[in-house]
Amino acid sequence: MEIFERWESGIRGYCRAYPTVFASASGARQIDEDGRSYIDFFAGAGVLNFGHNDPRMKAAVIEYLQADGVVHSLDMYTTAKRRFIERFVEVILKPRAMDYRLQFMGPTGTNAVEAALKLARRVTGRRTVLAASNGFHGMTLGALACTANEYFRNAAGVPLDNVMRIPFENAAGGGVRMIRELQAAFAMASSGLEPLAAIMIEPIQAEGGVNVASREFLLALQDLAHSQGALLIFDDIQAGCGRTGSYFSFDGMGLSPDIICLAKGIGGFGTPMAMNLNKPEYDAHWSPGEHTGTFRGQDISFVAGAEALRYFTDDVLMSAVKTKGARMAEALQSLAQQHGQGFAVRGKGMMQALDVGDGALAKTVARHCFERGLLIGPCGCGGRVLKLIPPLVISDADLDEGLTIFAAALAAGIEEHRHAQS
Ligand SMILES: Cc1ncc(COP(=O)(O)O)c(C=O)c1O
Repeated sequence: MEIFERWESGIRGYCRAYPTVFASASGARQIDEDGRSYIDFFAGAGVLNFGHNDPRMKAAVIEYLQADGVVHSLDMYTTAKRRFIERFVEVILKPRAMDYRLQFMGPTGTNAVEAALKLARRVTGRRTVLAASNGFHGMTLGALACTANEYFRNAAGVPLDNVMRIPFENAAGGGVRMIRELQAAFAMASSGLEPLAAIMIEPIQAEGGVNVASREFLLALQDLAHSQGALLIFDDIQAGCGRTGSYFSFDGMGLSPDIICLAKGIGGFGTPMAMNLNKPEYDAHWSPGEHTGTFRGQDISFVAGAEALRYFTDDVLMSAVKTKGARMAEALQSLAQQHGQGFAVRGKGMMQALDVGDGALAKTVARHCFERGLLIGPCGCGGRVLKLIPPLVISDADLDEGLTIFAAALAAGIEEHRHAQS
């Protein structure tokens, strides 16, 4: 590991929590160079919904490369992109009667968020965007302005402005009533409030601590946006792509966001891709090439991503996600009761979390998980939430073994924490 410590920037983060060198990965397991196997409950921060090295995607990518398929194409037309678009429209949009234009940009979530903010500001001619406490939208300056986390915001070095902050539904002061009151305030003449360009919201906050918004809360936000001609932007970058038991985290709620930001899991294989779904009437405000990105033609991701969409042509995977998600929630509920320390369980589908109320305790538990062969990442305010996001395709055996390790690590972490405090 010396080579990393000597040469790599001090900014490196996750490797400090997982101090080993990984050499290979398959399904829900990662193997380090000493041959130690780890169950992955972190899945590349939500990228690897379909696991490591999915055999069908790998075969499709190898076949594409062997046929000298175009690998890099900016935003030129390629056969790989056509196949991805065709399949996305057939499998995701048409069954939901959704009419959106697909916009590709630089292949990261933060790029998708920047593009959405730009388009909303263009369409409305306004600047102010409403975002929520604990929201996480990325690290570039526009997205960072919408991100709430103080540690990340402090690194900006310039003012992060043009954003108005509200508490998320489960935060102090948050809820439907607050949104309705805000709407009334906006409607008042001389309220002094700048009209909004957009509302940027994660239907399920992932990095912010797995906070699940209700349909009523999201509907109130939609009303607030549309009552003043602002755009409703859903950031489904981490909770989308099947994570919650349906393709979008807000499926079935009867909501109509104007822009949907996707990234992470849409490349399927772990290779990068980002894509916004823009309502056509708003997409028409873009001029050609106005928001570029050298790597917005990720053909390997188009090939694997098209293959990943097969998982949504029937209900097999999504019903397994619901079953496994319920199993995870049950296990966490039982641990919360057993330890009886005011722990809270939150989640939907296979994004489940245990809020242990203390960042130091969560960090200790995550270390005990790692020592026992389980990868898990703390998130939320002060890092006090242990988020479980295994690949959706994890086997029942690996899921059960991971949950057993988690239970042992939690007990050991609580014990160590108690000793440290006494
Ligand atoms: C909801 C959400 N939005 C945006 C981002 C930023 O994505 P990226 O790190 O690919 O820029 C993330 C990353 O964790 C995220 O979870």
